[in-house]
Amino acid sequence: MDSIAPIAASIDADGRTRLGHLMARGAAFFGSRYALMGGAMSWVSERNLVAALSNAGAFGVIACGAMEPDRLAQEIAGTQALTKRPFGVNLITMHPRLDQLVDTCLAAQVGHIVFAGGIPPGAAIKKARDGGAKVVCFAPALALAKKLVRSGADALVIEGSEAGGHIGPVSLNVLAQEILPIMADQVPIFVAGGIGRGEAILSYLEMGAAGAQLGTRFVCATESIAHPLFKRAFIRGAARDAVPTLQIDERFPVIPVRALGNAGTKRFMAHQAEVLAKFQSGALTKEAAQLDIEHFWAGALRRAVIDGDVENGSLMAGQSVGMVDREAPAAEIIAELIGQASAALARRPA
Ligand SMILES: Cc1cc2nc3c(=O)[nH]c(=O)nc-3n(C[C@H](O)[C@H](O)[C@H](O)COP(=O)(O)O)c2cc1C
Repeated sequence: MDSIAPIAASIDADGRTRLGHLMARGAAFFGSRYALMGGAMSWVSERNLVAALSNAGAFGVIACGAMEPDRLAQEIAGTQALTKRPFGVNLITMHPRLDQLVDTCLAAQVGHIVFAGGIPPGAAIKKARDGGAKVVCFAPALALAKKLVRSGADALVIEGSEAGGHIGPVSLNVLAQEILPIMADQVPIFVAGGIGRGEAILSYLEMGAAGAQLGTRFVCATESIAHPLFKRAFIRGAARDAVPTLQIDERFPVIPVRALGNAGTKRFMAHQAEVLAKFQSGALTKEAAQLDIEHFWAGALRRAVIDGDVENGSLMAGQSVGMVDREAPAAEIIAELIGQASAALARRPA
């Protein structure tokens, strides 16, 4: 037994060294130990989780969501009080005060701004870069990836439809094949959506990704302020429970959001049917009917994450939810992911 332990330790060290090489570009981009981003999650990714992830060697990202500039400034300062490591801020491009939010990040010397929820205006990218921040954008297709790099994006996230929250139509498996071979030498590209284990991270690194962004796996971090009932739904949930919202009529588009099904998702179907009937009877205009459908989920994520209303709130979760099996400190989750990736590498011939 005694002779096996040192051999195991040296194999482990070898796997970690090789993983370190594969992660070097992404880690250098963030100034973090590992090329692992904590995907910004509205209401969940606040100072406690973000700082915990950065302190554990990953790169935490604050979800600005609908916060106003003053509120964001407080959240950034609160995070800076909890970690000396770098972290980023995720801004939603359709926020009416996007410009001021960029100013808020720059004034607080946030090093990385992630623009999400649409293609950011060129002026916002330029402002962020001129102010000294690195810009990360979401690329939902190859043509847009090229356009974003031309517009000045320093790095890209490609997020597949396996992800939690608002999703596009294409899986990460396909996006990675379309985008990584063509674009990975131009800017660092981080993969997201449905990633729950280190072996998957490794496979994307080997395809040319600079690193990975995970959301769902971090919801049940001990440091996450998500309500215990929200966490319990994640621990119980299986991959097949995390489904996209459905639209019942193509005249009234619904942006797909991947979430655990609950009473709210069932009521949403009935609500769409009622609104459609009102539109067909002339009681609602098309615009009023569309707004009515869009408003259904207003405030629903907060209700679930903060208030613990897991029946009526939105339980946004990726298909990776099936790999969340317990509450554990962020450092333990990260150590597990890194351990899985490096052990897989160590098992292979050099
Ligand atoms: C509860 C929840 C809230 C989210 N909120 C946001 C958000 O505000 N902005 C954003 O860009 N992405 C958001 N996302 C997506 C994550 O940043 C990340 O890309 C996604 O979780 C990756 O897929 P995974 O959950 O399978 O790891 C959210 C995801 C979840 C699960």
